[in-house]
Amino acid sequence: MLIEIPELLSSQALQQCRELLADAPWADGRITAGTQSAQVKNNLQLPEQTQQCQAVRAIIQEALNQNALFLSAALPKRIFPPLFNRYEGEHNTFGNHIDNAIRYCAVTGQRVRTDLSATIFLSDPDSYDGGELIIEDTYGEHSVKLAAGDMVLYPGSSLHRVEPVTRGARVASFFWIESMVRETERRRLLFEMDMSILELRNTQGDSRPAVNLTGCYHNLLRMWAEV
Ligand code: NI
Repeated sequence: MLIEIPELLSSQALQQCRELLADAPWADGRITAGTQSAQVKNNLQLPEQTQQCQAVRAIIQEALNQNALFLSAALPKRIFPPLFNRYEGEHNTFGNHIDNAIRYCAVTGQRVRTDLSATIFLSDPDSYDGGELIIEDTYGEHSVKLAAGDMVLYPGSSLHRVEPVTRGARVASFFWIESMVRETERRRLLFEMDMSILELRNTQGDSRPAVNLTGCYHNLLRMWAEV
């Protein structure tokens, strides 16, 4: 399941991120790649220890914590601190790969199982050509190129790539989420149920069926969640 989360970043937060990243010391993207993905990865990445990385991370983590759609869709248990990449010039593409299942974060000292992958687009889509995120699932290929400040969430098990950027620069944040509900299909059911309950409550108020369904949601979550 692909979920787009529009305007994760406010225009003010986006502006702050862009200013911090504009003169950041970008490095070869293979610093975090596994051995298979290192062969197809050709982009730039911001080293984690830089002050810019930590400042932009904080802005994004705050936005994630306040976004109800993200929290409902991902049911996060642990979030790998966001990383940043840049596709431009000679460093312009990332071929087909699957992200490593487990990531160790030196900052938090924690391992994160990558149930979900996330990309937040930070560049205006009109400012660059190419750079689509292509995600394959059982329904075929999906091409994703979103407005600046928008996020896409997709199962960490998906084969994906970033198409070559042929003009301009594509800057994005990417990271992974370990969910309280490990299975994609269970998470999907809970998300659809949560969204439907929300709509029911908005249109009909807290009717008895809406209260009962809310109970069902929480009881399923209690049954499936690992916290
Ligand atoms: Ni990837």
